Amino acid sequence: MKKIALFASGSGSNAENIIHYFKDSDAVEVTLILTNNASAGVIERGKRLDIPVVVFSRNNFSKSDTVIRLLKNNETDWIILAGFLWLVPENLIRAFPGRIINIHPALLPKYGGKGMWGHHVHEAVVNNCESESGITIHHVNEHYDEGEIIFQATCPLTQEDTADSVAQKVHELEYRYFPAVIEAEILRN
Ligand code: GAR
Repeated sequence: MKKIALFASGSGSNAENIIHYFKDSDAVEVTLILTNNASAGVIERGKRLDIPVVVFSRNNFSKSDTVIRLLKNNETDWIILAGFLWLVPENLIRAFPGRIINIHPALLPKYGGKGMWGHHVHEAVVNNCESESGITIHHVNEHYDEGEIIFQATCPLTQEDTADSVAQKVHELEYRYFPAVIEAEILRN
């Protein structure tokens, strides 16, 4: 059984979708949720779904091995970033080489980098009158949104689309593809 730790900073609807997907799996289980945000919606979801949630501070995450020790004690095999907004520090990347996956709500390499998350991404896409957007699932390295791409899916946009409607289209793609792509990547390695 491969163990996943989910990192999320906000609502956690992707985290919940992933937890449901692996609930009856013989190969993969979600054993932990970690968040940097003490008021994140994902905390309530974790409680409801019976998955332990840990809140960590900036210092614990970026300037110590506290989070790594927690993950290792939990025998974590893979880390999945599902709406997680902080840059992953080098010590964590070294501790889980090739075993950290992120989802980004746009078609990288466009609309990536520091500050490009959630609504900021969708507003930029709409402001640039893009004819499509989508999702990118990728490995994580020490730079925002620059790790090797595993999978992308697109959705068409029209002139009528707003940041909210783009967010909805992108979320639909995330729910449809993210869990299965995680599963395939874990089973392949
Ligand atoms: C998702 O759309 C995810 O792609 C995005 O945050 C949202 C979280 O939604 N991630 C980023 O922007 C990372 N740069 P959720 O909390 O409902 O799963």
